Amino acid sequence: MRTVDWVGGKVRFLDQTRLPFEEVYVETDDPDVLADAIGKLQIRGAPAIGVAAAFGVLLAVSPSQPSSAQDLPRRYLEVCDSLGATRPTAVNLFNALDRMRSVIRAASAAGGSELYNALLQEALAIQQEDVIACKRIGELGADLLTRRAAVLTHCNAGALATAGEGTALAVIKAAARQGKIDRVFVDETRPLLQGARLTSWELVREGIPVTLITDSTAGSVLRSQTVQAVIVGADRIAAIGDVANKIGTYPLAVLAREHGVQFIVAAPVSTIDVHTASGNLIPIEERNPAEVTHLAGIRIAAPGVDVFAPAFDVTPNYLISAIVTDKGVLMPPLGDALRRISVSA
Ligand code: MRU
Repeated sequence: MRTVDWVGGKVRFLDQTRLPFEEVYVETDDPDVLADAIGKLQIRGAPAIGVAAAFGVLLAVSPSQPSSAQDLPRRYLEVCDSLGATRPTAVNLFNALDRMRSVIRAASAAGGSELYNALLQEALAIQQEDVIACKRIGELGADLLTRRAAVLTHCNAGALATAGEGTALAVIKAAARQGKIDRVFVDETRPLLQGARLTSWELVREGIPVTLITDSTAGSVLRSQTVQAVIVGADRIAAIGDVANKIGTYPLAVLAREHGVQFIVAAPVSTIDVHTASGNLIPIEERNPAEVTHLAGIRIAAPGVDVFAPAFDVTPNYLISAIVTDKGVLMPPLGDALRRISVSA
């Protein structure tokens, strides 16, 4: 399954809002449709958003309708800006767009097809690098699991969220192949239910035993001492190792600490943001209140209530046992480890 791909001059993506009941692929050559799809979470997950946006830049110009050479870079840059305005937290989006902007600047003097081809090569490289990163994260992360036991995960950090097997789910899938996973507890992940709809779907398809729990059940499960690790993805990792991820990740890290369970974050280096010093500087997206007041289109909240709907929270570095990246496993103190990895990257 490729959640986002470049096919025949169009972006092809699996509409994740229709899962698990319908597997519908959408093809578009319209950058506005793509931006809308990212905003609505039809395409979601930090690395997948980055890959989608990279391909989306190519949609600024139709190769069959040549436009004036001076106009081209400006049009590509405009689309970079509109794609960059879709979701503020996942830094993979901005890292991918920065790479595309660099290509636009470097190749702006070249002809239209040369610039287009350079952009296509860069977008394909971003996609391919993520495939490789996921594989490596899976291998490295599985080594942290030492016995056959259960793990717990939150949201969806799987194939649906990346170009490859996933991040947290790549670790879980690799460990399952090694016989180290007897069960995965999956938080349903209110309010948009990425755990119930997406992670459960992915793991059931892989033949890995899954138990779906409400988010508030995690404490009881961790207390039962059958869980060897909580494994989650990340949307942005600040320079000191604080991690922004789906809302509900932070309380899970607190629970893991309380119960002596290791708390592992799995993410490619494209999720590291060395320019953001700490977690409280990470921009946190707030979602439409209707995502909380309504469930599957039906209002469940009393009329007149106010809503607070952040899409992400920040887990401070001291609650994190390890960050598994494609360039190695980072252990505390995470700020030092991140500095070393950025220097060597
Ligand atoms: O709002 P979403 O569904 O895009 O949030 C996704 C997450 O929080 C994931 O855990 C994160 O992007 C890592 S995906 C490999």
